[in-house]
Amino acid sequence: MPNLTINGERYDFEKGETILQVALRNGVEIPHYCYHPELSIVANCRICLAEVWAPNPRTGVLEPGPKLFPTCQHPAADGQVVHTDSPKAMANQKAVMEYLLINHPVDCPVCDQAGECHLQDYSYQYGRGQSRFLEDKEKKPKKDLGPHVLLYSDRCIMCTRCVRFTREVTGTGELMVDGRGNHEEIDVFPGIALDNELSGNVVDICPVGALLDKDFLFQQRVWFLKKTPSIDGITSSGDNISVEHNEGRIHRIKPRTNPEVNRWWITDEVRYGWKFVHREDRLRLPTIAGRDPWALEAANEAWTTALDRANELLEASVDAGRRAALLVSPMLSCEDSFWLSRWVRSVDSKAITGVGPIPRHGEDRKFPGGFTVRAEKAPNARGVRRVLESGGAGVLDFKAFVEALRKGSIGVAVVTGNYPSEWITPELMDALGETPTVLIDTLPSALGSRSQVVLPGAAWVEKEGSFENVGGRLQAFERAIAPPDFARAEAQIALDLIAQLDGAMPPVFSAADTRREMFASGLGGFDSVHEPPAPGSQEPDMIYLEL
Ligand code: SF4
Ligand code: FES
Repeated sequence: MPNLTINGERYDFEKGETILQVALRNGVEIPHYCYHPELSIVANCRICLAEVWAPNPRTGVLEPGPKLFPTCQHPAADGQVVHTDSPKAMANQKAVMEYLLINHPVDCPVCDQAGECHLQDYSYQYGRGQSRFLEDKEKKPKKDLGPHVLLYSDRCIMCTRCVRFTREVTGTGELMVDGRGNHEEIDVFPGIALDNELSGNVVDICPVGALLDKDFLFQQRVWFLKKTPSIDGITSSGDNISVEHNEGRIHRIKPRTNPEVNRWWITDEVRYGWKFVHREDRLRLPTIAGRDPWALEAANEAWTTALDRANELLEASVDAGRRAALLVSPMLSCEDSFWLSRWVRSVDSKAITGVGPIPRHGEDRKFPGGFTVRAEKAPNARGVRRVLESGGAGVLDFKAFVEALRKGSIGVAVVTGNYPSEWITPELMDALGETPTVLIDTLPSALGSRSQVVLPGAAWVEKEGSFENVGGRLQAFERAIAPPDFARAEAQIALDLIAQLDGAMPPVFSAADTRREMFASGLGGFDSVHEPPAPGSQEPDMIYLEL
């Protein structure tokens, strides 16, 4: 295999790789701004330049190149010797950093990017430490580019990543470079806003604080944020995401790179779709029809009484010779589905099961860069069906489930929701009629007002579990924040109900243990669920002081 040497270490490479790609793949840092693995190579920022020596093809003697080469663009070649730490390469790094900061306002204390800014990092690692520029700085405007993105032009280093993104990934081409030389600015074309379904990604790829997310503007200093690896809980894409939160509140969602699923991107729908998690009217305590709501202080009594009542309804249905019906929402995890099914079938082995409504918006849409926006707006329809089918009986789709309810032989319905917005259909309300109902949901609804028992569930960011995406890929996600007040993960609720029936202490729900049990009970695939590569929740490295 061909190899080259970078700063004294030898590395193998594949034909077609550039020097920078070989370095990044091997964890060698070479500073770079304009290079991005998903975008065309323009080599315009010049920070990655290195001294490259190569064997003379005639004599085989190692000779230096005539000038510094951009490592992002220069192909790796056998026998090459690359220096990014030689005096010449380092002088270039210092010069580029000085040039980029000439007109920069150096307003880090009020910049959202501070703490995760490549201009800050490279300034520290490769810069001069002081400016020799005494003239007036060029002042450039702030611009509103679209519904989600602001541009602070004077922080821009003209790497053109954002322009190339709209040309090559979305194909929408809203952004351009306007002007020349010192007066160059990024802008939108007149009358055209940066308003495509992937627009928020330009904020992620901007290496400095020029492009900012309106939703996150001045919300948090990034060093306070904890990052929990998760999976898109809004659509069927299975996009790998990082939930960034502090003191129990989510502040933003970012993509996690996964070349096999979402590559480097997420849709704005996934990026901003978590707001329902913090709705003021979230369900927080169980309720029972005909009884005054419990105060938060009586949470234990509320849960014990409501669990008792739910089990009584199930047992009464069996005693009356009728069947229970369990509707599992496609918003729930495989583990939720497993324990809910276990609970209902432990009381009524002939219970019918169904998958809740699967919202669809139009058709799948593929962008020129290969990213697909999924029309199916539920994360786990396939996983829920897979788990319910393992129970032995057939699994109904929502329409068939409603029809089965209408036939009138159902003695109790257990219905789960957990959708980001109102989801109860008139058909479901009508078909349920007077059927005793146990509802497990996160938001108030018309069905909640008429159910015998309502139990508050947890949104996907508030629990651990796994989803099966539209491509059949099973992926695990971790818990980022706690559910509000006394709400619980649906799997925990089911375990509590089972323990209450057995008169035992309920175990604490563990997604990993559940997956082992699922696999042992014959559910294929749960021994090899894709786990997030990062270790659990990351604590910030700031040391907190009590002031
Ligand atoms: S706005 Fe950001 S991504 Fe766009 S050219 Fe400027 S620095 Fe690069
Ligand atoms: S990263 Fe190589 S020139 Fe910009």
